[in-house]
Amino acid sequence: MRRNILAGNWKMNTSLFEGIELFNSIVEKSYSFSDKNIHFIIAPPYTHLATMDANRLINLSLAAQNCSKNENGAFTGEISVDIIKSVGAKAVIIGHSEIRQNFNEKNSSLKEKVDVAIGKGLDIIYCCGETDKNRNQNDQESVVENQVSEALFHLSYSDFGKVIVAYEPVWAIGTGITASPEQAQNIHAFIRGLISNRFDTSLANSTSILYGGSCNSKNAKDLFECKDIDGGLIGGASLKADEFIHIATTLVAAKDNE
Ligand code: PGA
Repeated sequence: MRRNILAGNWKMNTSLFEGIELFNSIVEKSYSFSDKNIHFIIAPPYTHLATMDANRLINLSLAAQNCSKNENGAFTGEISVDIIKSVGAKAVIIGHSEIRQNFNEKNSSLKEKVDVAIGKGLDIIYCCGETDKNRNQNDQESVVENQVSEALFHLSYSDFGKVIVAYEPVWAIGTGITASPEQAQNIHAFIRGLISNRFDTSLANSTSILYGGSCNSKNAKDLFECKDIDGGLIGGASLKADEFIHIATTLVAAKDNE
């Protein structure tokens, strides 16, 4: 059975104090999910990670929002995988579109980050997704295929087992416009097909593929009822504990009914 995952990407939000409050609130509201098929991942700003104790919940882990492809040394402002591990995070988000765009990051450089993160034992949430221009030109599949294959398909079978894929159409992130369940399901099934062709059906069927982009408690049900959508990478709606937990309840209910 593949894992259902709800990840909160806090981006550049919350002071340390606000972050600790939000984290504590999410943890307290999450105890009731401990026997459910749902895993929570919280990705706060780097500065907060060391103050958060993910061991309080069996089905919760922490992630960094990015990492350096370099192992250590004179890279001012960067954070290495070893530093991330040293503060208790078990995963890292790689390839978020905001980082692809703001830092002109290419698949080739993301591949290096993937290698260093997985090589040192972190799980990764690898983001992919087309822009509105790509979609208007009906290029969404080829764009996503390049993003996934160029940064992930050199991995060994067992290393690919540490990958969570997040499909995040760029035009849906932070815009209030969500991909329709059909649009999202089609790309999720497409990604699963790519994994199956590269590796095999068993690995494809055990890989969690998350949807991200203006997902909230109102639209989550229709998205999570799609058979290839295994949860969400949630930005804005992860900044309120009640809303995030509402989305978690929706995910569990949608998958229980499958
Ligand atoms: P959003 O962000 O939910 O605010 O659209 C999602 C993301 O960027 O991961």
